[in-house]
Amino acid sequence: MLAALAPAPGKVYVDGTLGGAGHTRLLLAAGAQVYGIDQDPYALERARAAELPGLTLLEGNYRDMNELLSAAGVTRVDGVLLDIGVSSFQLDDATRGFSYHTDAPLDMRMSQGGESAADVVNTLGEADLAALIYEYGEERHSRRIARFIVHAREKAPIETTVQLAELIKRAYPGFSKGIHPARRTFQALRIYVNDELGALRDGLRAAEGLLAPGGRLAVISFHSLEDRIVKRFLLGSDLLTPLTKRPVVASEEEQQANPRARSAKLRVAERRGADRDSSGPGGPEVGE
Ligand SMILES: C[S@@+](CC[C@H](N)C(=O)[O-])C[C@H]1O[C@@H](n2cnc3c(N)ncnc32)[C@H](O)[C@@H]1O
Repeated sequence: MLAALAPAPGKVYVDGTLGGAGHTRLLLAAGAQVYGIDQDPYALERARAAELPGLTLLEGNYRDMNELLSAAGVTRVDGVLLDIGVSSFQLDDATRGFSYHTDAPLDMRMSQGGESAADVVNTLGEADLAALIYEYGEERHSRRIARFIVHAREKAPIETTVQLAELIKRAYPGFSKGIHPARRTFQALRIYVNDELGALRDGLRAAEGLLAPGGRLAVISFHSLEDRIVKRFLLGSDLLTPLTKRPVVASEEEQQANPRARSAKLRVAERRGADRDSSGPGGPEVGE
């Protein structure tokens, strides 16, 4: 990721998904200036407490990066990083409702605003619920799960993560071991509640417009739905040249150090119009 963005003193970056600021710290360590965006107020609170020189914090959705940056007086940047999805802080925080392993209110809102996952499972019609679970979770038992949810909520609202996870387990034919049957449905609800795919589409367009010629865009995604959006966007863009024909996956070593990296895919593109011999960000080509 670092090589892809080629940070250097004097360069300006947007980290659209600040999270635990791991990537941002690497950019700062290379002497770059970073505008760190996160929609999660808790992520910003942690970063604020760390007092990282060179980092400006912006609360909001990365899909609005143009507005957020221009309010901070910035209209061109040398690089944009999007490391999409939930952070380990969010997954591990038992109160946020992202995990089916720990009991918590069924929330899943990164921004703390809008509809929660409980609102969705308790109000959406059965057909819409099934479609959502199928589309965003790629769950083949989506209709059966939606039926079980609707039957259960007729008796009492579904309010917690474990309540929903147990319900899905009962709806899942022949489950004994392997991937938890709630995994895909939880992923689907999280994507829907946070409009993650809509934000990604808008964020890619915004990043394309914000990059200076020669500037780099790096996107790390975690499932095929996201990667497909990134791949199609880069192929269709008149302004960006993809530098990765295939997504770059983490090395064995990285995967062992960070299990989340196992399904991570990195795609990188460069804003056209760079004069590589003068002030363009340039930097090395990205390995495949
Ligand atoms: C996978 S984590 C990023 C981890 C980070 N790269 C690091 O090194 O620590 C994703 C973060 O992005 C935030 N996020 C996800 N989608 C977002 C969006 N559309 N706008 C702003 N922040 C978003 C989440 O709240 C979370 O904190």
